[in-house]
Amino acid sequence: MTKSVLEAPPPRFSADEVATIAAALFGLEGRATDLGSERDQTFLIDDGGAGGVLKISNLGEEAAVLELETEAILHVARVDPELPVAHPRLALSDEYWPRYDGPDGPHYVRLFERLHGRSGGPELDDRALFAYGATHARLNLALHGFFHPAAGRKLLWHLAAAADLRPQVSAIVDPSRRRLVENVLDRYEERVTPRWPMLRAQVVHGDLNLDNVLLDDQGRISGIADFGDIAFGAQVADFAVGVASLLRGRPADDVFRAGRIAIDGYQSRIPLEPLELDVLADLVAARLAAIVTISAWRVQRYPENAAYIQAWDDDSWQLLELFDTTGYDEVAREFGAPRSPVPTGELARRRSEALGPALTDLTYRRPVHVVRGEGVWLFDADGNRLLDAYNNVPVVGHCHPRVTEAVVRQTRLLNTHARYLYEPLIELAERLVATMPPGSGLDTVMLVNSGSEANELAWRFALAATGGQAGIVTEHAYHGVTTAITDFSPEEWPSGFRPANVETIAPPGTGGTDMQAALERLQGRLAATFIDGAFTSDGIRFPSAEEVAALVEETHAAGGLFVADEVQAGHGRTGEHLWSFVRYGVTPDLVTLGKPMGNGYPVAAVITRREIADSLAATTRVFSTFGGNPVAAQAALAVLDVIEDGRLVENAARVGSRLASSLDALRASAPSIAEVRRRGLLVGIELAMPDGTPDPELAERLVNDLREEGILIGRTGRHENVLKIRPPLVFADEHADVLVAAVSGAVAART
Ligand SMILES: Cc1ncc(COP(=O)(O)O)c(C=O)c1O
Repeated sequence: MTKSVLEAPPPRFSADEVATIAAALFGLEGRATDLGSERDQTFLIDDGGAGGVLKISNLGEEAAVLELETEAILHVARVDPELPVAHPRLALSDEYWPRYDGPDGPHYVRLFERLHGRSGGPELDDRALFAYGATHARLNLALHGFFHPAAGRKLLWHLAAAADLRPQVSAIVDPSRRRLVENVLDRYEERVTPRWPMLRAQVVHGDLNLDNVLLDDQGRISGIADFGDIAFGAQVADFAVGVASLLRGRPADDVFRAGRIAIDGYQSRIPLEPLELDVLADLVAARLAAIVTISAWRVQRYPENAAYIQAWDDDSWQLLELFDTTGYDEVAREFGAPRSPVPTGELARRRSEALGPALTDLTYRRPVHVVRGEGVWLFDADGNRLLDAYNNVPVVGHCHPRVTEAVVRQTRLLNTHARYLYEPLIELAERLVATMPPGSGLDTVMLVNSGSEANELAWRFALAATGGQAGIVTEHAYHGVTTAITDFSPEEWPSGFRPANVETIAPPGTGGTDMQAALERLQGRLAATFIDGAFTSDGIRFPSAEEVAALVEETHAAGGLFVADEVQAGHGRTGEHLWSFVRYGVTPDLVTLGKPMGNGYPVAAVITRREIADSLAATTRVFSTFGGNPVAAQAALAVLDVIEDGRLVENAARVGSRLASSLDALRASAPSIAEVRRRGLLVGIELAMPDGTPDPELAERLVNDLREEGILIGRTGRHENVLKIRPPLVFADEHADVLVAAVSGAVAART
C-alpha cells in the first residue's frame, strides 16, 4: 500500500546520483545542488547553460497528481503566457514524468525550467507587496477554467482541512503556544468551516508564497515554482497562504498595513467578495497555525531535516501572538472585514458632534439607521426590514444590480473628466436628447452632479440668453441649495426673507396663479420661470395642461425662459412619460434632471436648445470636474436601460392607480383625509381638521406611526400636512397593498 506523501519518507539520492539521473532521463548533464524540499528531493542542475530543476518524487506520489500539476502549468502558460511559471521539460522518453528505479522502488522524476531571481522577505517595499497580490490573483485567474479529476485530493497543508490539524497540536510542547493554536482552530471551526462551502473555489496553486517565488530587482515576482500542493480549494484561502508569508518578519506596527497593500494588489485583479474578506484573517491565522503545528509534528519524525522544516517557525509564532493580543475580530477588520454597526443612539450623537447644526435634521422621531438596501426594502442596523415608500432617488430599486455593476465595472476601468474624450458621456448625452419630444429642439446636454447644480447652470443659461435678472417660482418650491438657487427655493427661506430678484406664484390649480401680478412687479426683468412638474414641495399637485401652458406662454411673452425641473417628477415617476412636462403639452427651454438619474450615484443634467447654449458660450465655457464623468454616465445609462427593460413607467401607472383607488376608498371613510392627489407613483394625501384647516400634527404622527410599522413615507406642502408617498418605481401591487393597509390602520388609530 502506498503511504500518503507526507508520511512516506522523502527520497534520499545523493547529488552525484541525481546528476546521473538528470543525464539519463533528460539528457541534461550538469552539477546537482540540493535546493531542499519537504517530502521530495529538488536539485538545481547546472550545466553551464539554461540548466533546470530536477524533482524526484516521494514513493507515495501518484501519476494522476503529476499529470494534474503538469496540465495546470501548461494551462497557465497558454492562458497567461507572461506569468513566469516554471515550465515542465519533456524527457528523452517524451514523457513529462519518467520513472527512475531507486533502491527503495520506482520514483517519478521531473525536470522544470530554471527560473531566475532572488528570494524575498520583510524588506519588500509597498510596490512589491502590491505586485505580489496582483500576481497571485493573476495566477488564480489563469487557473479559473482549469479542471483535472485528481484536483480533489486532500493534503494536510490544505486550509480546507485546517481543523484536521487537531491531533498534531499535541506535538507543540509549550502549553501557552499550544493554546494559541487551539484558539485559531476553535475560531476556524466556528467561523470558517461552516462557510467554506460558500467560498469561491477552483483549482489553486495551494502553496504560492514567498518561498515558492523568485523576485526581480524591484521585488516583483519573476518566477513561480512548485505546484506540488495544487488542488481544488477556496481562492481566498490560496491567497491567505501568500499573505501569511508577506507578513512574516515585519515589525508589529507594519503587519496589517503591509497586509492591506497586498490585498489591494490582489483586488486590483480579483475583487474579494464580502464573505472572503470576512474570513481572510482567520485563513491567514490558520495558515500560520498549520505551519507551526505541522512543523512540530514533522520535527518529531525527521529531526535531521529540522532546519528546513522549522525555517518559518519563529516568525509564525510572533504573528500568532500579535493576532492573539490584537484580538481576531480586530485583525479581521484590519484586513477589510466589515465592521458591525455602531449603536444607533451613539451614531446619532456622533452625527451631530461631527457634522454640526447646519445639516438637515434626521427624519422620524426614532431615526432610521440603515445598513443595506435592496429593491423597495431598506434594512436597519438591528436587521429589521423597512418598506421604502418614500425615496425617489433609488428609482429602479435600491442597489439595482444593473446600475451597481455598471458603476463598479466603470470604476475599475476608468474614471476621469470631460476634458478627455470617452464614450459613456457622449452616449448618455445622445440618449437623453433622444428622450426629448420630437421637434422640441432640445438638442444640447450638459452634465453636472446634483439637481441644485443643474438648476444653477440652467439659471446661468437663462441669464445669458435673455439678459434678464429675475425669476419666478411657485410659492413653496424647492429647487436646490446653491446661493442662487436657494433664492428660488421659498421652502427654505427664513421667515421674512424674500430675494429682490424672485417672485412667487401660487401653484396652478390652487385658485388662480398671480402670474401677471408677479410679472408686473418684475418690470421686464424676467429671465426664467422654474417649475417642478409635480409641484412636490407645494404639496404634490397636478394642474391641468391649460393652466401650465398658460404659465409657459406668459413666461415667454415676458421674455423669460421656461425651466422644467424634472429632478423630482422625471424618470417616469408620474407613470405617463419619462418627463413630467410632456403631459402638459409644453416645450421647455431648459430641462433639469437629477436625483433618480444615477439611482443614487450623483449625476444631473441640463438639456436645452443649441442657441441657448450658444449664448452662454459666447462669453465663457463651463467645466465641472465630476460632471459627466464616465462612472456617472454609466450609472445614468444603466438607469435608463432598467426603466425601459423593466417597463417601469407603465408599472408606475398601474401600481399607482391601484394605490390611488385603495386610498380613495379609504378617504371615503376617513374624514381627516381631505384629498388624495396622485400621478403614477407620486401620491399626496392631504390631511385636514373637520373645519378644513390643515392638520400637520396628524401628518407628523402618521409618518412616525408608519415608521414604527416598518414603512417609510414623508410629508410635504406649505403646511407640512400632506403625506408624501414616492417609492422606487419597482413598487409592486403587494407593496402597495401593505402600504395601504398600514396607512388605513394608522389613520383609524389616530382619528
Ligand atoms: C424639484 C427639485 N429640484 C432640485 C432639487 C435639488 O437637487 P439636489 O438635492 O440634488 O441638489 C431638489 C431636491 O430635493 C428638488 O426636489
